[in-house]
Amino acid sequence: MSHNILKGKKGIIFGALNEQSIAWKAAVKAVEEGAEIVLTNTAMAVRLGTIKELAQQCNAPLIEADATSVADLENLTDKAMEHFGGKFDFVLHAVGMSPNIRKGKPYTDVNYDFFFKTLDISALSFHKLLQTLYKKDAVNEGGSIVALTYIAGDRAMLGYGDMADAKAMLQSVTRNFGLIMGRERKVRVNTISQSPTATTAGSGIAGMSRMLEFTDKISPIGNADAEDCADYITMLFSDYTRKVTMQNLYNDGGFSAIFLSALKNKQDEHTAGKNQGSCRAQEFGKAGWRPEAHRGPALQGQADRSRAAHPASGRRQF
Ligand SMILES: NC(=O)c1ccc[n+]([C@@H]2O[C@H](COP(=O)([O-])OP(=O)(O)OC[C@H]3O[C@@H](n4cnc5c(N)ncnc54)[C@H](O)[C@@H]3O)[C@@H](O)[C@H]2O)c1
Repeated sequence: MSHNILKGKKGIIFGALNEQSIAWKAAVKAVEEGAEIVLTNTAMAVRLGTIKELAQQCNAPLIEADATSVADLENLTDKAMEHFGGKFDFVLHAVGMSPNIRKGKPYTDVNYDFFFKTLDISALSFHKLLQTLYKKDAVNEGGSIVALTYIAGDRAMLGYGDMADAKAMLQSVTRNFGLIMGRERKVRVNTISQSPTATTAGSGIAGMSRMLEFTDKISPIGNADAEDCADYITMLFSDYTRKVTMQNLYNDGGFSAIFLSALKNKQDEHTAGKNQGSCRAQEFGKAGWRPEAHRGPALQGQADRSRAAHPASGRRQF
């Protein structure tokens, strides 16, 4: 149901590759809520993905840009301003990729050329984008710029490789550029730290479906999916969050606030009254613990959708 909370607002959405993409859901939601949008992705993503269908559905121009190229970002900003007839109000940066993870290189044996690429695509691109928007004074006062991050940007985690360092940098750029954008332009800059989500970028990580299952069980209200993230992004684009800036905002069902918790399952529900604090976390540490054995129906659905969407996906990143 639409509440028209983005009525009259205009913005650019990066990173819609296919229907699973968080950016795809955000684009659809923004238009539903009354916004006009411009879509962008790399030439290769336009060729290999289905973003053209989204452009049609949203009645939005599609302008190709590699987010690591300042020239492309300048061209994109100029064309978007031309299309909108002036400044715009919001931007979503939903861009990430690690060649090391894609090629299965562990954190202890990274290729440093790849590492630079990871940082350039997944973090520096956000600085390049902000600097371009700043120099061109392209965003209206009260505007909102959002990038997507993951908890491995601020907590140690095995398996996320050099993307963890890229996300830490992305969050730092958000604070430092956010300070300038706020003081000088009254524009907000935030990151949303999203639950593991079944997308192309997410599903390539080794053990992704098990991670989805584990975090869904640990999070008090379960994982946030791509639609949940789109709702949060829409809210951050809207005037309802006009004083929220320079923040890393968790959209993860409470996962990030937990130190130790019980795994949720039917038995816990039954025993909750009798045996508060019966902590099944030990089970996670037990040799041979497999999340499959504890899988709930909601989660099974998301993991299955992930596998069905990307049956042969290699190692990628979220
Ligand atoms: N899926 C998850 O579990 C998860 C969790 C937390 C954060 N995120 C973040 O959400 C964002 C969106 O990812 P997603 O999960 O929707 O996956 P996705 O694969 O649908 O989106 C990633 C996008 O990045 C684009 N991209 C890659 N290199 C680019 C470049 N050089 N220039 C411009 N665009 C480029 C891809 O074309 C793709 O559209 C990423 O920043 C990702 O790290 C994802």
